[in-house]
Amino acid sequence: MLLPAAGSGERLGRGPKAWLEVGGRTLLDWALAAFAWADERLVALPAGYSLDHPGVRFLPGGRTRQESVYTLLLEARGEVVLVHDVARPFLAPAVAQRVLQAAHRHGAAAPVVLVPDTLIQDVDGFYGPPAPREAYRLVQTPQGFGRELLLEAHRKARQEGLEATDDAQLVLALGHPVALVEGDRRAFKITYPEDLLLAEGLARVWQE
Ligand code: C5P
Repeated sequence: MLLPAAGSGERLGRGPKAWLEVGGRTLLDWALAAFAWADERLVALPAGYSLDHPGVRFLPGGRTRQESVYTLLLEARGEVVLVHDVARPFLAPAVAQRVLQAAHRHGAAAPVVLVPDTLIQDVDGFYGPPAPREAYRLVQTPQGFGRELLLEAHRKARQEGLEATDDAQLVLALGHPVALVEGDRRAFKITYPEDLLLAEGLARVWQE
């Protein structure tokens, strides 16, 4: 499992998210616990930090999420790798298993959820054309890939200057399809301060 956890947490304004506490433990600890079963756990940390945790390798992250994942990927050994954002502490084991199975079967897989709201384009501050929300999905992590495939996708992206907010986009850019599996709305990404209220509430009822 590759965990890019080197973000600065700018939008949240509470320092690096890896150290943010929810339900009395850091987001890093939540993620490491969710993948306690994984053969390999590689974590990208913000520059200047290092940690010691049994069975976990820590590496300095890059300037962007993509660079952090690439750094981890170069050190990974598994045939299939899962890439998970540290900002999503509430990962149900069933989601990780669905992704893993689909990644083994199709080479690449990502969990998605439906779009609950009306979806439109913002045209200079005015209500633009609506998008058919039933045709769209919100993409979560963990995403799963054959390691060689993901490495090829990252190398091509680096050569071509392609930057993406997740790994599935890079694999898609290679022309390789990415299977979708059912995600979980509880695996939302903690991004804005109000997300912390929801996270604290979920932490109280969460069972691993
Ligand atoms: O900024 P964003 O929310 O898209 O970050 C997604 C994930 O990528 C987070 O887990 C964050 O810690 C990680 N990240 C990283 N290295 C960076 C920037 C973000 O590992 N330079």
